[in-house]
Amino acid sequence: MVAEPHELGMIGLGVMGRNLVLNMADHGFPVVGFDKDPAKVDALRREAGARPVRAAATLDEFLRLLRAPRAVMMLVPAGGPVDAVVDELRPRLTRDDVIIDGGNSYYRDTDRRVKALAADGLHFVGVGVSGGEKGARYGPSIMPGGSADAWERLRPVLEAVSAKVDGSPCVTHLGPGSAGHYVKMVHNGIEYGLMQLIAEAYDLLKRGLGLDDDRLHTIFETWNGGELNGYLVEITAAIFLQPDDRGHGRLIDVIRDEAKQKGTGKWTSQDAMDLQVPVPTIDAAVAMRDLSGYKAERLAAERLYPSVPARFDGDAAAFIEQLGHGLYAGMVLTYAQGMALLRRASEAYQYGLVLDEVARIWRGGCIIRARLLEQIRAAFHARPDLPNLLQDPSFAADLHARQGHLRAVVQAAARLGIAAPALMASLGYFDGYRTGRLPANLTQAQRDFFGSHTYERTDADGVFHTEWQPGAREAS
Ligand code: 6PG
Repeated sequence: MVAEPHELGMIGLGVMGRNLVLNMADHGFPVVGFDKDPAKVDALRREAGARPVRAAATLDEFLRLLRAPRAVMMLVPAGGPVDAVVDELRPRLTRDDVIIDGGNSYYRDTDRRVKALAADGLHFVGVGVSGGEKGARYGPSIMPGGSADAWERLRPVLEAVSAKVDGSPCVTHLGPGSAGHYVKMVHNGIEYGLMQLIAEAYDLLKRGLGLDDDRLHTIFETWNGGELNGYLVEITAAIFLQPDDRGHGRLIDVIRDEAKQKGTGKWTSQDAMDLQVPVPTIDAAVAMRDLSGYKAERLAAERLYPSVPARFDGDAAAFIEQLGHGLYAGMVLTYAQGMALLRRASEAYQYGLVLDEVARIWRGGCIIRARLLEQIRAAFHARPDLPNLLQDPSFAADLHARQGHLRAVVQAAARLGIAAPALMASLGYFDGYRTGRLPANLTQAQRDFFGSHTYERTDADGVFHTEWQPGAREAS
């Protein structure tokens, strides 16, 4: 059979893969799709209509339909399934072919695969794709890593299918190796942080102020019209209106309060700890998803400690206003943590990330897109070596104006007994970061006291150890 000039092949025709194929085809790129599940191959065939799409019944047919050097993208679950596809492809591909992994793969797996396939002259490109089902179909934010050569080949199709903001495509080559998957991992870590902050605001409004879903909708909708504008705030407003088609009330009120996770937020926290970059809001978000899973224990503890939460008895309208500003401050602090992690990871893993470009491609298509990202982009554009967003004058002005609100919100949460660890961690991060002298001197003294771990002095260079006197005051 004569090879047909299909530009790109897609393995894995689940929701994301199928939608991305249709998106590519709508932009004039002939694509061939393949899936182990014949039902999914049929579904693509049916949906493709007159578009330049072929659905292959076997892997060999799939590969024959591709123009050489071949570009094969996969959208399959991270981990074993990616290795399984790579193992099947590897003996069938030839020098200069490109394999693209568009899933949420762990970045170290990506580095391993890049290295292994380079031995055969194959390019392996880890690409973060954000935006869910709709994003894949109509314009996601795309975060590619891998070799510059592979990027130049993929660039036309990736630019065409990505989201656009002010005409600029939400995709850029982020750096070599696993740079793309690393940036996507941190994107998801920020996503976890923002979602937890929003969940805490919801809890304060619902249980603290006793507001109903209509009122919650109005508040989030109003917030979305201002400084808090962003995809997650927008969908939150919509969620409160969704009726339960199996009952009379709203769907939100019958969804079990146990949050699941696939691991990207946890990886962000883990890697941040390895690199010694504090990301406490993201840590709190991961911890709260974990805690939500302890449903039976939580119910038992609720019976043991029934006295809280109390009902809010202050000025509700003023509190809602404060909460909006406090939430905004929490979000700024979450992005600041994520960007600081990217800065450090870029040095440690030699990604060469350009942070204003990262912010630029997050402005559209992805889950954490928000008005705030334009300001983040501008901050890193003005000062590419900015160590932390909190050092940027415009964010400093924002936080000056809002820190009082965040404090008031955290105080209210503590008084009401409503768990708000992400808001609290954000405030703690802010206060710690803006403190010139932390109590770490005491930590050092304790370490030296019990373990001779040594300490440094404020008034002399060098490393010191003291024979600490137990009960020194009595002795003197
Ligand atoms: C995106 C999302 C996407 C996915 C998350 C969900 O950017 O489009 O982040 O990648 O929805 O992986 O992650 P959890 O299942 O861990 O919440």
